[in-house]
Amino acid sequence: MIIAQNTIQQILSRVDIIDIIGTFVKLKKRGANYLGLCPFHNEKSPSFTISPAKEIYKCFGCGRSGNSISFLMEAEKYSYVEALRWLANKYGVEIEETETSPEYKQQQQAADSLYIINNFAQQFFSTQLFETDEGQDIALSYLKQRGFREDTIKKFQLGYNPEAKDTFSKAALAAQYNQEYLLKSGLVNNREGVLNDNYRGRIIFPIHNQSGKVLGFGARIIKKNDKAPKYINTPENEIYVKSKVLYGSYFARQPIDKADECLLVEGYTDVVSLHQAGIENVVASGGTALTPDQLRLIKKYTNNLTIIYDGDNAGVKAALRGLDLALEEGLNVQLVLIPDGEDPDSYVNKVGSSAFTTFIATNKKDVILFQLNIALAEAGNDNNKKSLVINQIAETIAKINKLEDFSKQQAYIKQSAEILKIEESGLIALVNKHIKEKVYKDETKASRNQEFLNEAVDNALQIDNDAALLLSKDEQHERAMVRSLLEFGNKPWNDEETVAKYMFAEIAENQLSDLIDNKNLVRLLDTYKIWYDNGIEPTTKNFLYHDDVELSTLAVSIMDFNYEISPNWSAHFEGHIPTREDLFKEEVFSTLNYLKLRKIKRLIDENQLELEKAIGNDEQMICLQTHQHLKQVEMELTKQLGTVIFR
Ligand code: CTP
Ligand code: MN
Repeated sequence: MIIAQNTIQQILSRVDIIDIIGTFVKLKKRGANYLGLCPFHNEKSPSFTISPAKEIYKCFGCGRSGNSISFLMEAEKYSYVEALRWLANKYGVEIEETETSPEYKQQQQAADSLYIINNFAQQFFSTQLFETDEGQDIALSYLKQRGFREDTIKKFQLGYNPEAKDTFSKAALAAQYNQEYLLKSGLVNNREGVLNDNYRGRIIFPIHNQSGKVLGFGARIIKKNDKAPKYINTPENEIYVKSKVLYGSYFARQPIDKADECLLVEGYTDVVSLHQAGIENVVASGGTALTPDQLRLIKKYTNNLTIIYDGDNAGVKAALRGLDLALEEGLNVQLVLIPDGEDPDSYVNKVGSSAFTTFIATNKKDVILFQLNIALAEAGNDNNKKSLVINQIAETIAKINKLEDFSKQQAYIKQSAEILKIEESGLIALVNKHIKEKVYKDETKASRNQEFLNEAVDNALQIDNDAALLLSKDEQHERAMVRSLLEFGNKPWNDEETVAKYMFAEIAENQLSDLIDNKNLVRLLDTYKIWYDNGIEPTTKNFLYHDDVELSTLAVSIMDFNYEISPNWSAHFEGHIPTREDLFKEEVFSTLNYLKLRKIKRLIDENQLELEKAIGNDEQMICLQTHQHLKQVEMELTKQLGTVIFR
């Protein structure tokens, strides 16, 4: 199902950004804007600003900006659709959905049924645990003897499936659940037409999704049995996709956000025990390598991942297998090894929560350097092996390839060179080689040419992030022109036409591509023009909520909070402080004129080149005449820029 367009329009027409952000941030009115403490970074004095008129926010501390929807997406980690649903609910808009494919519908139906069955099963297992003799005698006593408190057991909704072969199956059939979905859920099996329980005599750990619904279960055996597996987990189905699940993430979501750190452990019991000890920012991967989806889930909440595993366990290796991926995702990964054959569950029970927390805080090892030290120790004095290690670390460091992580990369190079006792410059060269190789591999997939690749690599290495962000002066002028269209397009230019109409006539006369270099700005203008030509009022709002995120981000970044005077004409108004609203005609006129002037200057340069190449009097004559004409236009434009005052 897809949310219908007119529902979206209804929602957007009711959006009140102050109301929405006010739910999450305490706001104070300051002039036309509202001010509060930024929810996206830690600050003591407020720099998070909302313009209700423009329906956008911007933090002058961390630079984040956006609209109501992007706020919800960022603050609550919602998807676009989830944010819309949240708004619809808040404003009492009934969601109308349009049909999608039959396969999708079928899948949706299976998912719905599985959630319902799991919910039933979870409650059934809880009841068995707490309210039957068998549950209390065998399971509850086992959990309590392991140190789990009743409030913890209830919070995690732990349960028990009795030993008899079909207690759950009978209950589920009596409640008339569909057999096909019961089998899919993994709770039962079918032997010669009879349903039997799969998790007999086991403690049940429900596995929740981000919003607390039960996706599946982990079922731990109570009585030691060499033939049966220790845990049985839900098989893959429409809702349980192991690679996307992190056990405990529902309970850990807010604590991770708050601590700005995610602890990763191996097992269900580790998560539950740490929670009970007050350490709540913890999730479990089930002992397998981290998958890209799991990493993305973590990255939604924090960039800091701390892996806590038992020291002498194969699980560490599995966890480290996901490491390169974590680096590529820009996570800072640290590792803590629990000593003496303990796991986090047994260790926290042994030493208590504050000693555990101290242990974690003081024993974090940088995971890259940790790996390096281990590999180096293994290589010993063998120079061949050593050079493999060097190559390996260079490749790993090369994976930290996001521009914003440049200094992190540098730090790793420095520290690794020290550990390896090699020249730093040599390691830099090696890392660069790996980066080039990687870009080359990525780009050949997208079949681009080699020259471009080398350029990209050189750029990535040379351009410092800040410098890249500094827009060129010319682009600022382009943005200023688009900004005046976005903000004043619907105002009257004169008795007959709107600002938009006037501007498009001017743009058409001069050719858009001659006026604007930036491709995305051109795209934005094209979109505006299409709306405009089709009678849709191209308000800024339409752009802010455009589902093309690139366009909407661009629009937000162009729009101004402070009504700054655009760069080329601010000089004329020194002394008094007119607002951009007061002076919109002047702004429209001057931003257009600046770009026209730029175009003429470029034409003059081009003509100059032709003059140099011109052969014979005639050609030279034409060039000279052109030159004179262009100079004339240039002079007029310059004069207009300086003198023309509108009513
Ligand atoms: N696991 C699994 N299937 C198994 C064994 C383990 O799925 N047969 C997963 C479970 O998610 C388990 C984790 O690997 O929680 C770690 O396994 P282990 O350390 O053996 O179990 P613990 O969680 O420590 O359980 P307990 O403390 O009860 O021994
Ligand atoms: Mn354990």
